[in-house]
Amino acid sequence: MEYKELVKIAQETKDKAYAPYSGFKVGAALYTKSGRVYTGINIENATYGATICAERTAVFKAVSDGENSFEAIAIASDSEDYVYPCGICRQVLAEFSGDDLKIICSRKDRQFMVHSLGDLLPHAFRRMVE
Ligand code: THU
Repeated sequence: MEYKELVKIAQETKDKAYAPYSGFKVGAALYTKSGRVYTGINIENATYGATICAERTAVFKAVSDGENSFEAIAIASDSEDYVYPCGICRQVLAEFSGDDLKIICSRKDRQFMVHSLGDLLPHAFRRMVE
């Protein structure tokens, strides 16, 4: 899967976002090592705190399907700036990925920058229980 294609899927997914409070629609496209793509949107809530980000929606959809090994995630919004995952989403991504997970941050014009999870969340806390 080309990064450009993953960004396009994230952009298209973004239009389904439920963001009546912030007006900031976000879409994510998560590429699994098995070759599948899971999409996610942000889903806001009247309590604000119960809001979930697009990235976590995608991760939780995938994990619920038994997919828990990821290669890349693209993130898209209507912003003219690159959109980056929040701290909570970085931590959730770290639960299921190594530092080499590629995080593709895109702009409205579909330009993108590729980072690794290790760059965005150095020294991540992971606890593997045998
Ligand atoms: N949001 C995401 O979905 N992903 C991000 O990477 C940044 C923030 C959402 C949460 C909230 O619905 C809205 O964007 C404004 O913060």
